[in-house]
Amino acid sequence: MPSATRTITTPIYYVNDRPHIGHVYTTTICDVWARFMRLMGDDVFFLTGTDEHGQKVEQSAQAKGVTPQALADENSAEFRRVMGMFDLTNDEFIRTTDPRHESQVQSLVKRLMDSGDVYLGTFEGWYDAGQEEYYTETKAREVGHVSPISGQPLERATEENYYFRLSHFQDRLEALFAEQPDFVCPEARRNEVLGRLREGLQDVPISRTNFAWGIGVPDSPDHVIYVWIDALFNYITALGMGAPESDWFATRKQYWPATVQVIGKEILWFHAVIWPALLMALGLPLPKCVYAHSFWISEGQKMSKSLGNFIDLEQLTQYIDRYGRDALRYFLATQGPLGATDSDFSRSQFHETYTTDLVNTLGNCASRTSAMIGKYCEGICPTDTGACAGGGVEWATFTEDQVNQSIASMERFDLAGSIAAAMSIVRQVDAFINDTAPFKLAKDPAHTETVGNILYRCAEAVRIAACLLEAVIPEHVSQLREAWSLGDPSGELRTECQWGRLPTGSKIDKVALFPRLEAETASNA
Ligand code: MSP
Repeated sequence: MPSATRTITTPIYYVNDRPHIGHVYTTTICDVWARFMRLMGDDVFFLTGTDEHGQKVEQSAQAKGVTPQALADENSAEFRRVMGMFDLTNDEFIRTTDPRHESQVQSLVKRLMDSGDVYLGTFEGWYDAGQEEYYTETKAREVGHVSPISGQPLERATEENYYFRLSHFQDRLEALFAEQPDFVCPEARRNEVLGRLREGLQDVPISRTNFAWGIGVPDSPDHVIYVWIDALFNYITALGMGAPESDWFATRKQYWPATVQVIGKEILWFHAVIWPALLMALGLPLPKCVYAHSFWISEGQKMSKSLGNFIDLEQLTQYIDRYGRDALRYFLATQGPLGATDSDFSRSQFHETYTTDLVNTLGNCASRTSAMIGKYCEGICPTDTGACAGGGVEWATFTEDQVNQSIASMERFDLAGSIAAAMSIVRQVDAFINDTAPFKLAKDPAHTETVGNILYRCAEAVRIAACLLEAVIPEHVSQLREAWSLGDPSGELRTECQWGRLPTGSKIDKVALFPRLEAETASNA
């Protein structure tokens, strides 16, 4: 029986962009978390997809001479293909042009109109056409009336629009932030939101009349629903929450509220303020946590279209071809910008992480251990008689501590912390082999029992670490499972990680997990 339901979401990605490192990053870290929780035995719903409406898509389609739907179909398919390439295990890939999403958005907006949380009014303000976003007076002044994203001047725009009565939720949002300090993570991001929240909230326009590519406002044919409102609703339409009679709702309603909604820091306001206010207005529960990660930069520089230095799919494919998919996942999960600072994606850093952690630590330890079991125990898992083997490590307690830490970190969405706890087990094995020197003891038959004890403990510790790392490097752990007769994951990670479950007498084949590679230079890159 699954012990808990857990839901994780990525932002849904704009179809007017090509998939790049940013999209792959967010989706991969969510995938690591989703896989980990499934290994724990939880019932996980992992949602991603594409955001397909809005003026930009309409304009790009016009420029290409195709319909917006055709453009959306093509680019959404590309995002979906990418998910396959990286073996991402999302349970649903939602598209905002899916009629099941569109009709639910309309009925959710209708509910808001009926309750008075959405009303018709006139708006004048500073508009960032590239971002399709209005700026407050303060923010517009701050950025010198120029879009910090596109560099284009903000436009003064007036519109008759439908508004969401965001101002009504000021107190409730403040209370939310006070009562649920982990609602927005990391803390630096929470503080940013709080600062802006204290400036006071204005109602926000949620419809547009200057283009057509969007979901119509119910009973108001000239207005389309603002792409951000349409997009935010994906998190609940994918669960059928705007259509209680639907199949989606019947089979998925248990997945709301989301456990963690992962986004990049640039879309925090929508997720930390507008989104919870919309849910409050609809009387729906709020996500437990909105986690806003920072950005990857590339070789020390911000990635931008004008610099043309985006780590794109082609480059990511090169990394995969050279180092393998697991190595990319490991790098993203351990070196990525999960905290409040940006991370640099550099070839040298990638290579170093691969070599230090995967080749020299995990790979080396697994191969050393299995090679010695091959040589001194005929490839059969020895017995741990419990007699002292030297090295001074209390393996059962040490690994239990690391397992607890690894699981607790993952629950906090601290992927690097979870992985570090697993890797510390492997490092301990390395030190243990060096301290106890089984390769020396093995020369004297009097030490056969001790050698068996040492090697059992090494293999057992590596097994436990591998179980904890399975969500990050699934292909290699599967290889290890095969070579060491470990069977499939049991779906009870905590139990599986208990000391002593490696059966004596099973076959342990030698493994070579991560090949040593030359550092890339300009000539062999
Ligand atoms: N469609 C909106 C989101 C709507 S969610 C209801 C959108 N789409 S996007 O295609 O621009 O994707 C933005 C997301 O891509 C970011 O929030 C982040 O997850 C990811 N990244 C884009 N660039 C990134 C980096 N340079 N580094 C890390 N991730 C970043 O915004």
